Amino acid sequence: MATTPFDITVRGGRIATDREELRADIGIRGGVICAIEDKLPAGLQDIDAAGRWVLPGGIDSHVHIEQLSGMGKMSADDFYSGTVSAAFGGTTTIIPFAAQHRGKRIPEVVADYAQRAREKAVIDYGFHLILANPDEEALGHELPQAIRDGITSVKVYMTYDPLKLDDYQLLDVLALAGREGALVMVHAENHDMIRWIAQRLLARGHTAPKFHAVAHDALAESEAGHRAIALSRLIDVPVLLVHVAGAETVELVRSAQRLGSKVYAESCPQYLFLTADDIDAPGMEGAKFCCSPPPRDPRSQEAVWAGLKDGTLGLYSSDHAPYRFDASGKLPRGDATTFKEMANGVPGIELRMPLLFSEGVMGGRLTINEFVAVTATNHARMYGLAHCKGNLAVGLDADLALWNPEREVTVGTAMLHDAVGYTPYEGKRLRGWPELVMSRGRVVVRDNALQVARGSGRYIPRRSPDAVLPPAGTAPASRLPAMLGLQGKAWPTL
Ligand code: URP
Ligand code: ZN
Ligand code: ZN
Repeated sequence: MATTPFDITVRGGRIATDREELRADIGIRGGVICAIEDKLPAGLQDIDAAGRWVLPGGIDSHVHIEQLSGMGKMSADDFYSGTVSAAFGGTTTIIPFAAQHRGKRIPEVVADYAQRAREKAVIDYGFHLILANPDEEALGHELPQAIRDGITSVKVYMTYDPLKLDDYQLLDVLALAGREGALVMVHAENHDMIRWIAQRLLARGHTAPKFHAVAHDALAESEAGHRAIALSRLIDVPVLLVHVAGAETVELVRSAQRLGSKVYAESCPQYLFLTADDIDAPGMEGAKFCCSPPPRDPRSQEAVWAGLKDGTLGLYSSDHAPYRFDASGKLPRGDATTFKEMANGVPGIELRMPLLFSEGVMGGRLTINEFVAVTATNHARMYGLAHCKGNLAVGLDADLALWNPEREVTVGTAMLHDAVGYTPYEGKRLRGWPELVMSRGRVVVRDNALQVARGSGRYIPRRSPDAVLPPAGTAPASRLPAMLGLQGKAWPTL
């Protein structure tokens, strides 16, 4: 009997990476891409990709799964529903958070999340750490150990009472990350501005969801973003601003990058496809659109599109923060719930890529290569996964999706696989859909059905973003780190 070199051959598709586009077959063996060429031999299994885009599986590097929020709310999705939902939307790797709450030690937090994910995830995953208590033990031992174990990024908050770090603590975390080769992700909003406005709104009886957007003013976002950038520049350590919403913040990041600062930024579907007007819906409906920072205005939407196009915003993630429209999440006191009491966050793990494919690629706003970069490749580079994921190349994991550009879909809650029970994008008409999704050579989704077992995803320890160390001889941007004896290791670049 004739033997074949491939377990699977993906045949005749239109392949796109972050840099090029070609028509070729993909040969896969042992879960890894081992050839990309014209007219490859048949595999044990042949997948016909004629008329389809073959794109790298998405990496969603900002998702909250089976996580207790800062406000103490449990997210609706566990590691099963969250990863199934991701896969149906073309995503093959997620990086959720292992969230420390004050009073908990980092090793127990990490072990707890690791165990829950191991039992349930159907696609591959890593973890970021949310750091709420940067005490001596955390900074001296626990965080460096977590980084060595492959958790090479840490999220810190400038707002939310239970999570907020002050500027001194932010400098401590940045210095440690620079030394250990990790990346600091910052939730940048000015806590006191929000608190001050909210207190006055509530005192006047303005409790409806729409006032969430008023309290979280765009200046609270840009002021904190500016401060985070200044702290990072002070000691010459990279920083990543997550969920950028406002036009002013996009411009701030762009000018910092032009000055040569190592500042990176992410945005999300809710800032492209929603505005504060969506929050101004009758009754409590607006709660379904409340996240922090909130969706803003058409000018900010345009700024986010421009930022994704020109590379100012290198990452497009979902910030999937799934809370049900009931007492467990959005409405702890039913219709009497004030905007300060609702869980913050919107779902988006499944629609992240289809929304951008439809409006970005099919709508002519992004090239297919830009789509691949902001949904997959840049995440792999930024978060230490580029050695195995984020692109289509020989030697990388066979993580890919076959997109049918002709398929038209009208978004409805019933078609989604998360456990939220609503979508902020209900009724939206999309062009293009990922019909077959593969992770490490395993077909995960085909014919609109899940093909793999619970717990079949793998934990991927991430490298520090050291593939992007500064070129030899690059002068530090600030003399302060040398004077203070700080040593920098990681300078991520996209
Ligand atoms: O409102 C949001 N984005 N909730 C999720 C938590 C966070 O800060 O990312
Ligand atoms: Zn955040
Ligand atoms: Zn988030």
